[in-house]
Amino acid sequence: MTFPVFEPATIAGITLQNRIIRSATHESMADEAGAPTEALEKLYVKVAKGGAGAIITGYAGIQQDGKSSLLNMLMINRDELIPSYRKLTDTVHEHGVPVILQIAHCGRQTRSAVTGLPTVAPSPLKDFIFNEETPHALEENEIESIIDNVVAAAERAKKAGFDGIQLHLAHGYLLSQFLSGYTNRRKDRWGGSTENRFRIVSEIMNRIRKRQDNFPVLAKINAYDNRPGGMRVEEAIKISRLLESSGCDAIEVSSGVVEEGLSIMRGPEPPVKALFKSSFRFSTMPAMLKRLSAPFITFAMRSPKPYRAYNLEAANTIKRAVSIPVITVGGLHELTDIASALEGGSTDFISMSRPFIIEPDIVSKFSTGKQTRSRCIMCNYCALMIESGNVTCYYGKLPDR
Ligand SMILES: Cc1cc2nc3c(=O)[nH]c(=O)nc-3n(C[C@H](O)[C@H](O)[C@H](O)COP(=O)(O)O)c2cc1C
Repeated sequence: MTFPVFEPATIAGITLQNRIIRSATHESMADEAGAPTEALEKLYVKVAKGGAGAIITGYAGIQQDGKSSLLNMLMINRDELIPSYRKLTDTVHEHGVPVILQIAHCGRQTRSAVTGLPTVAPSPLKDFIFNEETPHALEENEIESIIDNVVAAAERAKKAGFDGIQLHLAHGYLLSQFLSGYTNRRKDRWGGSTENRFRIVSEIMNRIRKRQDNFPVLAKINAYDNRPGGMRVEEAIKISRLLESSGCDAIEVSSGVVEEGLSIMRGPEPPVKALFKSSFRFSTMPAMLKRLSAPFITFAMRSPKPYRAYNLEAANTIKRAVSIPVITVGGLHELTDIASALEGGSTDFISMSRPFIIEPDIVSKFSTGKQTRSRCIMCNYCALMIESGNVTCYYGKLPDR
């Protein structure tokens, strides 16, 4: 099987003009209520005009205690937000590009100081980074209400004109915390076996499918992380099969959790300067302490290798185990890598995040032959600096402000 990069293709009946998708990227461009702003609309128009096959939004929160500690997260927790999302989807659709809403609850990867509520998780385990408090272990009725809130969010997304939703099951956020044996230590029906840890997702899928038979539901998963007792490819295969049988339409394969440092978005140099400038943990640290701790932090934040196409092998293994489309993300920044991944049949689609930050029209540049690789240098300042402002490319340099 071979998949040409620049020919139309479908996911759950949604037509994409090519096989390159903009992966979910928190833009920090929502207003106080969590509604999309003009700035976000303009960004998506650039990405759509710039040739993307589809746009997956930055993560949108389903309830206040799951809100991101990063600035200005999109929220999809109230019906009043539907009209502003409808305006966004109508505008993007004018350019013939589908738009999918990523739905998330941050679980223990957020801060009470931002949400105003205790952090929650499957089990009361402190996060290495978000460790100001021990998260509250969710009770049965709280899990039920999270499931209902995800289902309500999916309904809002449909009413707002999104072409589908993507459940965020990756990167150590709440649903990923349930799936991983490292963060899920429960002994009840929500923990233990893979099936039990998957139960929250299967309940979400069943209830979405009961109410909205054909609405496309995608999932972003971790093929693996490096936590002791955490996710490994063999289990991710099992989870992918469970997703397929629960009615999921496509699986995007990623890896890593936030507390591992630079494993989700890899790169050669830990962005320590950006960390010191922006992070809630370090920005107020005295200069002397910053200097002293820099070597340790650089060591702790080092990224695994390789930096290119780093989830492709795992995605290929998952693709062999399911019959729904597989999307691969992570370091696919060069057209030769993208073409060989698709044409070799290792993945049905590829997605990118950082290349769209530096060049929203990167897909047109690829398809017209103007450029064969992204200009992204993987400095990852974009990922750190969203703690204090809109997403943008810093190209390894910090502003003086
Ligand atoms: C600034 C920034 C924000 C991100 N926000 C999200 C997000 O909201 N949801 C998500 O699933 N992944 C998010 N990611 C991860 C990317 O989708 C992607 O998995 C990762 O960057 C690796 O792909 P890349 O090499 O193409 O950048 C973000 C990445 C960056 C750099």
